[in-house]
Amino acid sequence: MPSKILIVGACGQIGSELTFALRDIHGEDAVIASDIKSSTSPELASGPFEILDATDYDNFKTVVSKHNIDTVYMMAAMLSGTAEKFPEKGWDLNMTSLFNVLNLGKEKLVNKIFWPSSIAVFGPTTPKVDTPQQTIMEPTTVYGISKQAGERWCAYYYKRYGVDVRSIRYPGLISYKTPPGGGTTDYAIEIFHEALKSSSYTSFLSQETTLPMMYMDDAINATISIMDAPTESIKIRSSYNLAGVSFTPEELYAEVKKHIPDFEMNYKSDFRQDIADSWPNCINDSEAASDWGWKKDFDLEMIVKEMLAGVKSLKEVN
Ligand code: SER
Repeated sequence: MPSKILIVGACGQIGSELTFALRDIHGEDAVIASDIKSSTSPELASGPFEILDATDYDNFKTVVSKHNIDTVYMMAAMLSGTAEKFPEKGWDLNMTSLFNVLNLGKEKLVNKIFWPSSIAVFGPTTPKVDTPQQTIMEPTTVYGISKQAGERWCAYYYKRYGVDVRSIRYPGLISYKTPPGGGTTDYAIEIFHEALKSSSYTSFLSQETTLPMMYMDDAINATISIMDAPTESIKIRSSYNLAGVSFTPEELYAEVKKHIPDFEMNYKSDFRQDIADSWPNCINDSEAASDWGWKKDFDLEMIVKEMLAGVKSLKEVN
């Protein structure tokens, strides 16, 4: 049986689009989508799909053997906002799922692993502008602590057991096909839905909060590129900084307003403001560029155009 790819968390914001992209490249049957719940998307369910609890090692192992899995994209996680509400659950899900996939690598049951990290690994003591690859990291959120610890475990499993694990520190990801789940950067998605629905939106981050963001297509490209790169070019085995475009809610509002002139934005910060304030404004990603050729395609203007068209198309279908 030819070796296959497994996406864990395939119903999620990144997992779903990664599944579509990898099925386009390798064919539907070569990519097994999996999630803890069954998929409501006919597009996802049209190819092979497994119910998989990533915190259950035996369940994971069974799916991996059944499909002769070579490569795993371990995308299941609890994001920053939700993990602050359920700290122990967030830690448990994020760490146990990572250990399970790393141990599959250690036991040579899989050959290559992708695991996402985040800008949340940084904290209030990190330099905020042009944040270097190696710098002070004192995360203050459960999500950030789990991602930073996870990065160290990835580097450890690579060094000690030769596990080929690769990782990216994703910025806030903007997409329309699948809704995000409980992130601090989600305002930059909600704004498009509300702009088209009610012509007004109240942002839960203040107008001057600058955060690193990226369009989903760029994130998917980066993910597939780092996984396709030759082993020797992946010099960082914790996780690579990755930059897209940095902006504030006010700058995003101004760009959306160019398309919807009567759109109104209000601001009312909630608990996520503190999380956002602890993260960098913009990231230095020169190592991803030089080691495996990373380059972004989407600037703010393009993101806004694509998002408005994409969200509109969803409304037409539904
Ligand atoms: N978008 C994520 C979050 O806000 C950051 O990794 O939690």
